[in-house]
Amino acid sequence: MSLNSNNRLLHRNSTFILYTCGLISSQYHSQIFLNLYSANTQVNRPTRASISLPAILSNLRLARSLTPHSPTIAVVKSDAYGHGAVRVAVYLDDHTDAFGTTSLKEALALRSAGVMKPILLLEGFFSPSEIPLIVEHQLWSTVHCEEQMKPLAETPTNSRLRVFLKLDSGMHRLGIAPENYVSAYKYLSSLPQIEQVMLMSHFACADELDNPMTAHQLQLFEETIRGIEAPTSLANSPFILGWPVPSGDIIRPGLMLYGASPFQELHPNTAQLEAVMSFSTEVIAIREIPSGTSVGYGNNWSAERPSRIGTIALGYGDGYPRHAPSGTPVFIHGRQIPIVGRVSMDLVTVDLTELPNTKIGTEVEVFGQNLSINEVASWCGTIPHTLMTGLTSRVPRHYV
Ligand SMILES: Cc1ncc(COP(=O)(O)O)c(C=O)c1O
Repeated sequence: MSLNSNNRLLHRNSTFILYTCGLISSQYHSQIFLNLYSANTQVNRPTRASISLPAILSNLRLARSLTPHSPTIAVVKSDAYGHGAVRVAVYLDDHTDAFGTTSLKEALALRSAGVMKPILLLEGFFSPSEIPLIVEHQLWSTVHCEEQMKPLAETPTNSRLRVFLKLDSGMHRLGIAPENYVSAYKYLSSLPQIEQVMLMSHFACADELDNPMTAHQLQLFEETIRGIEAPTSLANSPFILGWPVPSGDIIRPGLMLYGASPFQELHPNTAQLEAVMSFSTEVIAIREIPSGTSVGYGNNWSAERPSRIGTIALGYGDGYPRHAPSGTPVFIHGRQIPIVGRVSMDLVTVDLTELPNTKIGTEVEVFGQNLSINEVASWCGTIPHTLMTGLTSRVPRHYV
């Protein structure tokens, strides 16, 4: 340990004593730490998420090649599925026709970053007070219920709004009932504030390729809109990747942009997706344990042979699922090896017995280029969406 780091420790300890004795305020305490760290220290916890923006673009191009005549709304809601909405949208701005976000707040963050393409609010507005900002920033709003229509009629008549009228074609979550859809369309189209009404619905089961629900929803949509001349928007990632039927006029890919498959089974189109996020860390401790020794909280895993156990710097505090069972793979030195014992907040233990050459500092990929996020999600009984969006704010994102 260098003299410099000894001094830092000394300073830190004396500051801590003053703080615990109540002699300095917590604000002053944080300021001291901030100065200390920014001046002298690199924060070196090895846990990180590497995000390949070119891979997102390649996945967007795949979506476009599968639906060559359809403009694209790139869905970047929920911080671009955990990948950083501003970084992703700024990168894709020249390559997509529009973006999709959940809320006005998410859309305004993109506008503040200079994103100029149209942005569709996938749930519309939550309160009429949001409408002036929607008009000012030229956002597109979904209209999914009758209650959203009256406030639109009450906005100044010089507003020029473009809306996506959502049909409830069977998901029974959002959308206008089929029997009310045409009258809702006619009403909105008659308003001077509405420049254009697009026709939209969302699939409940498109990720199950043998589920008849998708064909049923498509048929209901087509029957309901018969006679209306307006652009349509239906297709999410599973529909774009797995359903070789016309996909409506405007596609709305989300998950596939981030390199994950929406399907449980292999599919030739998903084989073309490029992994986007690599979530990785390093081995920070290694111990040899005799057969019968337990590891981790709750002692719920015991070695069945003399074992070499590595501890890696990542846990549920970073978004790795606490319920990941023993056996869930991580990727080290070119092969998959299992995690063992319970996942803690900051640490996970892995069985390195088959990898005698691993050392402290050995790189561990938890999912990414070498170990698919779909495989890890499947071990954890979840879907890739929850792993991506579950990464916590303490995980630094590096863009490559
Ligand atoms: C209305 C709507 N369109 C498109 C998407 C994108 O779906 P996916 O991530 O399956 O491509 C979503 C996401 O759930 C959505 O809610």
